[in-house]
Amino acid sequence: MSRLIVVSNRLPALGKGVAAGGLAVALEAALKTRGGLWLGWSGKTLDKPAKGVSLQDLGNVTYAAMDLSAEEVSGYYEGISNSVLWPLCHYRPDLLEYTRTAMDLYLSVNGRFADELLDLLRPDDVIWVHDYHLIPLAQALRERGVQNRIGYFHHIPWPAQDLFRAMPKASKLLASMLAYDVIGLQTATDARNLRAALDAARPDLEASTTPRGTRIGTYPISIDTQGFSSRARRAENLPRIRELHQRFGPREMVIGVDRLDYSKGLPERLRAIEHLLENRAALHNRVSFLQITPASRSGIEGYDRIQQEVAERAGRLNASYGTLDWVPVRYINRAFSQSLLAGLYRLSKVGLVTPLRDGMNLVAKEYVAAQDPEDPGVLVLSQFAGAAAELDGALIVNPYDVADVSNAMARALDMPMDERRTRHASMMARLEAHPVAVWSETFLRDLAG
Ligand code: G6P
Repeated sequence: MSRLIVVSNRLPALGKGVAAGGLAVALEAALKTRGGLWLGWSGKTLDKPAKGVSLQDLGNVTYAAMDLSAEEVSGYYEGISNSVLWPLCHYRPDLLEYTRTAMDLYLSVNGRFADELLDLLRPDDVIWVHDYHLIPLAQALRERGVQNRIGYFHHIPWPAQDLFRAMPKASKLLASMLAYDVIGLQTATDARNLRAALDAARPDLEASTTPRGTRIGTYPISIDTQGFSSRARRAENLPRIRELHQRFGPREMVIGVDRLDYSKGLPERLRAIEHLLENRAALHNRVSFLQITPASRSGIEGYDRIQQEVAERAGRLNASYGTLDWVPVRYINRAFSQSLLAGLYRLSKVGLVTPLRDGMNLVAKEYVAAQDPEDPGVLVLSQFAGAAAELDGALIVNPYDVADVSNAMARALDMPMDERRTRHASMMARLEAHPVAVWSETFLRDLAG
């Protein structure tokens, strides 16, 4: 079997005592089966990064980390990746900040990834590129003579065709995608949107590329369901979880776990909580909302603004409704281990996953996997998360409709046991039938041609 080369902007956190997230677990399993290499940014910003990577071998997998300069990070990561592609793909063209300098840096950093890879590559390696930071990587590799099979997986949504055109140089980026053999998206809608974008740009594309018959497919990503379920079962015995269980006592816990991002619909969610508390006085003192939101991408304008807005809103809500012995919303800006999260999901009667737009959202799947099948909690899920196409046992809501989300929370808190069990069982059946190993195997099988 040929070696697998994974390329992504971030490398998994090796040996830092942090439990790996779902994607890292899935890709590391595929890497271990075939042997291979994972190339990514070291996360370090140096004045004059030297050419070359630092290598670390773990079994039959090599991790290769490259450094970037501050200028490269500002154009490639903060600029095009997070201030153009991320807002566009999440339907926020108002947040788009494009400069030609940033685009040049985005392309040149992709070129640097290609240069580094060239030194490490063997002729029959299969290359799998992940996410929007590295869209033009295949083209950069082809320009350097690489003939290997190259696949790309887009973890975030692909926007409607007309919206994508707001990106200057959109057709250049689209043309570069035809250098891939397989492009994977999370949902059928994303795949349809990308095909429409490619069709609309066809006249420009044909002049500038040699078509390889790129295959575009839908590969919804999943989690290690069994692994996460057992982690949640074990977590019940963690001292921290036991203590919380006692502290919350008869109160019901509603949980939300999201990276601090404007796509996650956090102000809207807090408005829905406020609506609920305003309209259901019986819930006062009976329910506690736990919102775990590690800060992210700070320094980028849209992120600094959302950070302030959410903190202020949570503060105001607590000031209006809190009592001497009840804080309605616990809003926490730090990350927790996967084990602790699994335990918290299991303790919570309701899981709130209400993004305004999301590629898949693995928290939704983890919340389901973490439940006790005998006494499961209820998932309230946005219709705009990729997971909504699969998790039909959730209460599906429109996150912009504050009353809809508030009613769904009330319904979830009052839901009879039978209905909770039926809904949970149907979602678990779906998750068990689509394990994450099948996600990577299916993609890699298609990529093998
Ligand atoms: C999303 C993206 C990932 C990214 C992650 C964290 O899940 O799909 O590619 O790594 O967010 O964002 P960050 O900018 O911190 O890498």
